[in-house]
Amino acid sequence: MTVHAIIGGTGLTELSGFVLHEAQHIDTPYGAPSAVILRGEYAGREVLFLARHGHPHRIAPHQVNYRANLWALKQAGAEAVLAVNAVGGIHAAMGSGHFCVPHQLIDYTYGRAHTFFEDDLEHVTHVDFSYPYDEPLRERLIGALAAERFAFSSHGVYGCTQGPRLETVAEIARMERDGCDIVGMTGMPEALLARELELPYACLALVVNPAAGKSSGVITMDEIEAALREGIGKARAVLARVLAG
Ligand code: HPA
Repeated sequence: MTVHAIIGGTGLTELSGFVLHEAQHIDTPYGAPSAVILRGEYAGREVLFLARHGHPHRIAPHQVNYRANLWALKQAGAEAVLAVNAVGGIHAAMGSGHFCVPHQLIDYTYGRAHTFFEDDLEHVTHVDFSYPYDEPLRERLIGALAAERFAFSSHGVYGCTQGPRLETVAEIARMERDGCDIVGMTGMPEALLARELELPYACLALVVNPAAGKSSGVITMDEIEAALREGIGKARAVLARVLAG
């Protein structure tokens, strides 16, 4: 049985119904991960859980130690990673509460420690990243979303911005011209680091607001929190179905 790791994003700092077996403090050559890694049982399967922003939520997207997180999960025995990410919607189909299982991404971040391959100059490694998400894992997310009858898109381009501020209207217009359907701050370098460690990785994105300029007003934390309250229970149901299936 594959051991899955779940990386919980904003709003998903714990899994209700998770039976905790062990809380592991793991140190890595890259420092400490965002939180203890919780090993336990969810939907009858062995699972590792890590709160990306710490527990309680306190680490901003650009300050997350993505390398430590992925390294620690691998060390703890993860064989596949399901990432949950709150995002803004760019494409008209991506309204609040909609789910998207992205198939592609564009990285707009800068200055993040984004690779494990920087010290060994004799063996520069160029990993293939043509298809950043693992297709079988994506299909399992898609199957679970369909079975739950939640509104979702089975494809989408995730644009990852630096944060922690939200984008300007012009930036979102540019991202739309680039082909981005959703915008978030935590998709990279997480997806790449998983690839470097040869961990199959897929993302369950929950739209929590229309991106800048995609609604008549500005973006408020209240609307984001309301969408998270509505959507996170659904995300848990999807994850449970993926694991049990
Ligand atoms: N932009 C970037 N990241 C986000 C957004 C957004 O509008 N909403 C949630 N995460």
